[in-house]
Amino acid sequence: MASGLSKPMVLSNVPRSILGEGPIWLPEPGVLYWVDIFGNRVHSYRLSDGSVNSINVGPYPSCVMPNDDGNLIVTIKDKVILVNPSDGSVVRTLATINEGPGNRFNDCKCDPMGRLVAGTMDMSERNPTGSLYILDSRGLRRILASVTISNGIAWSSDGSVMYYIDSPTRRVTVFKYDKSEGALEGTIGYINLSSLPGVPDGMTIDSEDYPWVALYGGGRVIRINPNTRSVVEQVELPAQYTTSCTFGGSDLRTLFITTATDRSRQTSGPDGYVFSLNLNVKGTVVNKCRL
Ligand code: BGC
Ligand code: CA
Repeated sequence: MASGLSKPMVLSNVPRSILGEGPIWLPEPGVLYWVDIFGNRVHSYRLSDGSVNSINVGPYPSCVMPNDDGNLIVTIKDKVILVNPSDGSVVRTLATINEGPGNRFNDCKCDPMGRLVAGTMDMSERNPTGSLYILDSRGLRRILASVTISNGIAWSSDGSVMYYIDSPTRRVTVFKYDKSEGALEGTIGYINLSSLPGVPDGMTIDSEDYPWVALYGGGRVIRINPNTRSVVEQVELPAQYTTSCTFGGSDLRTLFITTATDRSRQTSGPDGYVFSLNLNVKGTVVNKCRL
């Protein structure tokens, strides 16, 4: 493995999630956040002392992002809410969607200009009833329809390209992104992952502009060369349901990977824990929203 220096290890003292998802690293204060969608918790882990904090902010918390006012943005079942990280209280509701009881929010990210991009999914994971939305000062608008399981979102460093995953398609769609307007400007191409095990789920991007994708059911994260659209690295984990990853740590060279237990919850392995892995490639820090 060219960029891998260590084996993925379970982060000690962190709670096990049913559906651990959406890790993000906040350099100030040096904290990793992630969610347990089915456990109804937003978890955080302070790297300096290993302390863990867990809050319950509502049903199906699927994504957590930093806002520039110091609060957190969290997507829950059908809402985007602003949460005070110190006590978990809801500051206010930023948006509500109306997609019916069978759908819920899933992954989200702040775009380079501070808008929130958030997708929804069919909870039965079968029908293309979900959408991708943008939320900014102008309100909430749909930028993509007919999505089944809206998942990973990442931008190239210049913000002109948005990578996007609708899991059952087993590919990453490469969109041209208009960052001044917050709009998709058409499809540039696809990164086909159907020959790999599992389905693509969460995503991050490193400082060389290479996307990293977790393969749910495939027990691995992969690194993609965006120019050749090919997989250049695979990191296998001892947990099958790898859901997402983010770079963190003081030098941004630690990859944190969230995992889920299988739905029967029969697993006896390390499924559901957060793993960390040291790499010699540097990551990027998530954008903050300005909402
Ligand atoms: C969703 C899960 C889904 C998985 C794989 C996750 O983002 O929250 O419900 O099973 O992606 O598609
Ligand atoms: Ca996901």
